[in-house]
This record gives sequence, C-alpha cells and structure tokens, in this order.
Amino acid sequence: MSVTNKKASPSAVYNDKVVRQFTIMTVVWGVVGMLVGVIIAAQLTWPGLNMGIEWLSYGRLRPLHTNAVIFAFGGCGLFAASYYVVQRTCQVRIFSDALAAFTFWGWQLVIVLAAITLPLGMTQGKEYAELEWPIDLLIAAVWVAYAVVFFGTIGLRKVRHIYVANWFFGAFILAVAVLHIVNSAVIPVDIFKSYSAYAGVQDAMVQWWYGHNAVGFFLTAGFLGMMYYFIPKQVERPVYSYRLSIVHFWALIFTYMWAGPHHLHYTALPDWTQSIGMVFSLILLAPSWGGMINGIMTLSGAWHKLRDDPILRFLIVSLSFYGMSTFEGPMMSIKTVNALSHYTDWTVGHVHSGALGWVGLVTMGSMYYLIPRLYGQKKMYSVPAIELHFWIATIGIVLYIAAMWIAGVMQGLMWRAVNPDGSLTYTFVESVKATFPFYVIRLAGGVLYLAGMVVMLWNTVMTARSGRSEDVRIPALNPAHA
Ligand code: HEM
Ligand code: HEM
Repeated sequence: MSVTNKKASPSAVYNDKVVRQFTIMTVVWGVVGMLVGVIIAAQLTWPGLNMGIEWLSYGRLRPLHTNAVIFAFGGCGLFAASYYVVQRTCQVRIFSDALAAFTFWGWQLVIVLAAITLPLGMTQGKEYAELEWPIDLLIAAVWVAYAVVFFGTIGLRKVRHIYVANWFFGAFILAVAVLHIVNSAVIPVDIFKSYSAYAGVQDAMVQWWYGHNAVGFFLTAGFLGMMYYFIPKQVERPVYSYRLSIVHFWALIFTYMWAGPHHLHYTALPDWTQSIGMVFSLILLAPSWGGMINGIMTLSGAWHKLRDDPILRFLIVSLSFYGMSTFEGPMMSIKTVNALSHYTDWTVGHVHSGALGWVGLVTMGSMYYLIPRLYGQKKMYSVPAIELHFWIATIGIVLYIAAMWIAGVMQGLMWRAVNPDGSLTYTFVESVKATFPFYVIRLAGGVLYLAGMVVMLWNTVMTARSGRSEDVRIPALNPAHA
C-alpha cells in the first residue's frame, strides 16, 4: 500500500472516504441492531418488559431488529467491502464520487426512516420488506446508484480480468434490485399505507421468492464476495481453486432462485411447487459446500496462521458456520422435517447460526482487516481486544443456537404428541413454560455477542483516533491483484 499526501490528483488515488464512512457505520449499526436483538430476546423471556408502551412492544421492535442487523449492519458492511474490493481489484478509482456519496447518505436516511416508522407501527407486514412505499422508492434509487457506481468502476478497470469477488458482489447487487422492485409493487392508499399488488397465494409466493433470495443474495452472495477477497489477503495465499470459485458462482446463483417455496410447505401453494422448492434446496447443499471448502482450503499449508491471527479466525470460523447452516437448511427443507421444525425456535436457531456465525463473523473479520488500512495503521489499536471479541462472540453463538435447537425440537415434539385417545398430550402453554430456560440461555448468548460488538466499537474508535485518513495511491498497472 503506498500512501500519498493530499495533493495527488483524485484519479491517482482510491476513494477510501466512502469506504471509511460505511465501515464505521457497520460497527455502529451492529451495536444498535444487536442491542435491539437483546431487548426482544429479553421481552420473549419476560413479556412484562414491553412495559405497555406500544412503540417498545415486541411486534414493533422485532422488524426493527431484523432490518437493523440485515440492512444497516450487513448492508453497510457490504457497501464498504464492495467499494474497497472493486477499486483494488480493478486498480482504478471508483466510478463517481458524487454517486458513491449519494449511496452513503441515502442508505443512512433509509435506516433512520426505518428506525422511526417501524416502532410507530407503519409496515407492509411482509417480513424483511416491511418498509412503506416512499422508503421503498428511496431504496430503489440508492440501489440503482450503487449498481451504476459498482459496474461503472468495473467498466473503467485497468485489469482485464474481473476477479471472482466482483462476480459475487455484482450478482448480489443485480439480484437485490430485481427482488426489491418486484416484491415492493403496491397500490398506495396514502403516504403511510399501501396494499400489495399481488393477492392471496401469489402474494405469499412472491414474498418468499423475495425472502429466500434475500438470504441467498443479500446474506450469502455478497458475503461470499467478502470471503473471496479477504481470506486470500489475510492468509497471503491465492484462492485454493479458482476454477471451483467459478463453478461455485454459477451453481449457487442458478439454484438459489428456485428454493423459495420451502418457506411455504403445507400451505395453499400447489404441492408440486413446494416439492420443487425442496429439491432445489437439497441441490443447494453442493454449491454451498463447494464454496465453503474453497474458502477453508485456501489455508492449505498455512494452518498455523490460525493459531495467532484472530482476524483469520473470524474469517475461517464464519465459514464453518456457513457450512453448518447450509447443511441444516437443506435438511429443514425436506417436508417431513419441516413438519417438525416450522413455527418452532429451530428456525430461529438456523437463522442465527447463519446470521451470527456466518454473516456476523465474516463481516467483523473483514472490517478488522479494513479499519487499520483505512486509517494508515499496520494493525488495530488492540489485537488482544480482537482476540477477546472472537471468544465472547463464539461462546455467545454457541449458547444462542444450541438453546434454540433444543427448544425448537422440544416444541415440535410437544405440539405433535397425542394420547392414545387422540387428545393432545400438552397444552400450548406447557410448551411455552418448558421453553423458558432456553430463552434465558439465548439471552445470555445474545448479551455476550453484543458485548463483543461493543469491544469492537471501542477498538475501532481508538484505531481511527490514533491513525490518519490518508489517500492511497493506485499502483502502476499490475495484472496481479492489488
Ligand atoms: C446480539 C445478537 C442478536 C440477538 C440477541 C438476536 C435476537 C433475536 C430474536 C430474539 C429474534 C426473534 C425470534 C423470534 O421471533 O422468536 C430474532 C430474529 C431474527 N434475527 Fe436476530 N439477534 C441477534 C443478532 C442478529 C444478527 C447479527 C442477524 C443478521 C445478520 C439477525 C437476524 C435475525 C433474523 C433474520 C430474524 C428473524 C428470524 C425468523 O423470522 O425466523 N439477528 N433475533
Ligand atoms: C443451502 C442453504 C440454505 C437452505 C436450503 C435453507 C433453508 C431454510 C429452510 C427450509 C428454512 C425454514 C423455512 C420455514 O420452515 O419457515 C429456512 C429459514 C431461514 N433461513 Fe435458511 N437455508 C439455507 C441457508 C441459510 C443461510 C446461510 C442463512 C443466513 C445467513 C439463512 C437464513 C434463513 C432465515 C433468515 C430464515 C427464516 C425465514 C423466516 O421465516 O423469516 N439460511 N432456511
């Protein structure tokens, strides 16, 4: 990395300002979103914590949590990583500084509007697509600008080859644009209220085509882009198999699109549609594991680095959780298994093994890689603090997901248990009572995970304060990646 003074012409240096802004906000929104997660976990344990205040009720804070962690924490992380990676791998400054700045401020405005409208109860009632239509329009505008900046930068590239991380970022950007625009089609009643343009089971199918691909492209493809850049950089070795990364890419994006119906098993959706969803979900195991193996095997010959590099540990352990959740997902999509898991906390356990284990850890690892470089430092202010963060986050995840798995299977078995005379063995409230200890354990896991994020915020502030935001010069053309 060659650092230059402020006088260099803009085209000679990378635009790291927007990367810095998104990186800082990733950490800030991480703390906020996880804090709301801890609050709702506490409310599920002790419902009295709703305190009778409608804005703080569980039903209003839950979508605030999901939107904050997925779109604010995850989204800012993806913007930061993709803007950094596309400039480095194309060896060119970002396509348009003004549009990139628009994506930053526009996205922050979306988040603030979400934080105001969701507690007020304004919602379309579609999971992960709750925001009302004026905010949806703003999201569409920001996303189109993002696509122009990203693909514009690819268009300006000085390196002929388009590195595989950019393929994943590009697919994530295009797919999310299509998903958002199609699923947000509504008929507005007034500025705060609208009704879906689709009706009945078609509405449900469009929503879960969106919902599942939000997992596939927002929570997976984009983060795989991070994985393909930051793991080789941190290990200082090339990707294990570049050929596998291309097969991984095409197989993954082709398969994800068809798996949505597994969210609608045993509903009014035609049976054959559910079966297609199940079959494609089972096939999805192969590309998912291909990608995981490619990432982990990049460490071949350098396994010892895991011993004393906490950033690498974040990145590699995230892949183990990715492997776990992409094994569990296909199993849960089998209709007979889903008959047990659906509506139970097993689903919540699956979600968080992907969300905390994969999305959370890979984002944290990538941001730990970026932050010192963005502030002209060799390493984070405190490396032991990264180590501490890694361990409390990992213990937190294990407590969270193990508690939810046990609770989920227990709930499913209690709900289906019948006496010889055909009556139910347990009342619903008995299953709620039996779940209580597991909710306490999940809450403890969540508090640990949040505590790790607070440590990261402190470490980030200290690194930024002791460093300088210098421009980094674009190296002379070098076909090998920067
Ligand atoms: C401190 C960390 C966290 C805690 C304590 C926490 C807690 C919770 C709780 C209590 C719920 C509601 C579960 C229910 O309805 O029964 C939930 C839902 C959810 N959370 Fe988190 N969460 C945390 C972090 C995250 C992160 C980092 C992500 C994503 C990157 C995430 C994504 C989600 C999603 C997608 C749902 C909806 C799940 C579903 O509908 O099945 N969470 N979380
Ligand atoms: C091969 C990959 C995967 C498959 C086949 C899969 C499959 C499934 C299935 C069958 C469900 C339960 C649907 C239900 O009963 O309602 C589910 C729920 C979910 N999964 Fe996965 N999963 C995969 C990977 C992941 C990953 C990596 C993440 C997160 C990063 C994730 C996030 C979610 C979320 C958020 C839900 C809850 C949706 C909701 O009801 O709100 N999944 N998944």
